[in-house]
Amino acid sequence: MPAGNHTGGALVEVPEHLLKRSADRRKDLGASTGDEPAAEAPPSETSAAPAVAETQAPAAAAGPSLPELPDLEPEPEPQPEPVKPWVQAALSRKKIPVWAVPVLIFLPFWAIIFAGTLESPERDSEIIAMGREVYDGSGGCAGCHGAEGGGGVGPALSNGEVMATFGDWRDHVIWIVNGSPAEPGTLYGDNNEVSLGAANGMPAFGEDLSAREILAVTYFERVEIGGADEADLHDLEELFEAEGVVPSQFAIGQTFRSTLSGLLSTAGVGAG
Ligand code: HEC
Repeated sequence: MPAGNHTGGALVEVPEHLLKRSADRRKDLGASTGDEPAAEAPPSETSAAPAVAETQAPAAAAGPSLPELPDLEPEPEPQPEPVKPWVQAALSRKKIPVWAVPVLIFLPFWAIIFAGTLESPERDSEIIAMGREVYDGSGGCAGCHGAEGGGGVGPALSNGEVMATFGDWRDHVIWIVNGSPAEPGTLYGDNNEVSLGAANGMPAFGEDLSAREILAVTYFERVEIGGADEADLHDLEELFEAEGVVPSQFAIGQTFRSTLSGLLSTAGVGAG
């Protein structure tokens, strides 16, 4: 009777076959006997134990290695080389300000444009070149009016003088063609200049110079000497450049303000 030994004498009397039957009954109902949990528990404990051991093992393995890391770091890093003074200067120098960037980008274009203005196309135009040649050479104008138009035998043309006399370039052209009026004391020009007369005054150039040369020297005297605005002489320049419009010569003695106006309209310039 081993089952009743530790329970005391009161239960000794329970017949063994009843205990057995009770045990079987409980077994049939699925209830575990007092011994079974002990048999099943060990597997669960043993399966949990390795899991704990596994989770702890890495920590235990990492534990010892952590102290070693500081040993690697103390390697003294190479000290950066001392910055050279000139490098320091370059680093501390002021950089190009933002606003200057577009200016710097545009600078080459500006230089090209500016260089273009130095060689003004008008300065090299045919009408200026021909006018200068007449004034200095074939017309001999410089001999009496000065190389720069400052005056001599003839009156000064520079500093707007010629513009004051002939506000309209067509009167200027007619003057060069005809020269001084025959009679001394005759008034001429917009400001009523008193003429020396043909004998002592300005020679007529209608026969010595071509019509285009007279147009050219008129343009030259007004723009290069008189200081006229080239824009105001646009029609004169167009007449000079119009093909087959300007006659070979302007006839002396002709009062051809209207003739010039007709030529301008023929040339399509249109200025009356
Ligand atoms: C021989 C000297 C001489 C030469 C050469 C000469 N001129 Fe004159 N020019 C004069 C004199 C003198 C006058 C003043 C006219 C007068 O008093 O009647 C004058 C006046 C003028 C005027 C009017 C200026 C003013 O404000 O009164 C113009 C314009 C002019 N000349 C242009 C020319 C041109 C262009 C040439 C060359 C094609 C030329 N001259 C050659 C002596 C000359």
